[in-house]
Amino acid sequence: MNAVEIKNLSKNFGAKQAVCGLDMTVPMGAIYGFIGENGSGKSTTEKMICGLIPASGGSIKLYGKDYTDIDVRARVGVLIESPGCFPGLTVWDNMMLQAANLSIPNAEKEVIKVLKTVRMEGAAGNKYKNCSLGMKQRVGIAMALLGDPTLLVLDEPLNGLDADGMRIMREVFTDIIKDGKRSIIVSSHLLGELQKVATHYGIIRHGKMICEMTSDELDASCRTYIALQADEMSKTKTLLGCKYSRVEEDEAGYIRVYDLTTPEDVVTYLYENGVTVTEIMTDKIGLEEYFIDLMKGGK
Ligand SMILES: Nc1ncnc2c1ncn2[C@@H]1O[C@H](COP(=O)(O)OP(=O)(O)OP(=O)(O)O)[C@@H](O)[C@H]1O
Ligand SMILES: [Mg+2]
Repeated sequence: MNAVEIKNLSKNFGAKQAVCGLDMTVPMGAIYGFIGENGSGKSTTEKMICGLIPASGGSIKLYGKDYTDIDVRARVGVLIESPGCFPGLTVWDNMMLQAANLSIPNAEKEVIKVLKTVRMEGAAGNKYKNCSLGMKQRVGIAMALLGDPTLLVLDEPLNGLDADGMRIMREVFTDIIKDGKRSIIVSSHLLGELQKVATHYGIIRHGKMICEMTSDELDASCRTYIALQADEMSKTKTLLGCKYSRVEEDEAGYIRVYDLTTPEDVVTYLYENGVTVTEIMTDKIGLEEYFIDLMKGGK
């Protein structure tokens, strides 16, 4: 059974169609990276999954049941925008208040458990307003985890985090799904970061899912290329352009050859034409470039 199965979902805001005919499948145990340009319909879709706004059409199934089912609703934790915290209260008091709102039994034990999951057990006494952005995001996730949900929906939780904050967040995500019982939907524009942790991806455009894949499938479909530097870069580029069909210079100043060939062939060809290669490697495009290609209509 899948955690989420969406068919033909639509949402209209007056004349504006924010989501139109969207299909989406989130398997259990997945960290599902939800990607799309600004205004493509990610937050709107997430709000519908969480029941925060009604759908205009289509179906959303959570664990095989309609998303309006009360039992299944209780299994969803959500962080969309910032958590509703009192700035002057401590993290602990904010958490206990939220636990009381949700009528969580054994509140103290439960709050300790979720604060531990998000690596905030040592900062429970901090006033919320004095927490760093990364800590605030993790308090939001801790709140979403109250009540032991099996599906977490997180809208842009990586925004504004520094490298260490990103690393902790990745660890938190991996921890949350490690027993295979929980799934996370996480929207983000930080594709390089998402790629380090996501197990599945969904790419949305103009309110429609244009592609869903696993991280293995992404890996397999990401083009490989040969990147090189040589003693005469502009001559090298011209020479390579005569033999290979797709030759580009990247931002780091390497010339990339995307054709199906080998580094040996490239080095030999350039050597025969009087160019010495100083550095050469093979690599793959990442999620970011894959996404940009997809948006341009290529692959
Ligand atoms: N309450 C609303 N009323 C009218 N239009 C809305 C409303 N909420 C969203 N929209 C519109 O629906 C479209 C999708 O918005 P949404 O916020 O879902 O996009 P997004 O993919 O989350 O974008 P971003 O990456 O900027 O967060 C946008 O054109 C947006 O302007
Ligand atoms: Mg959004």
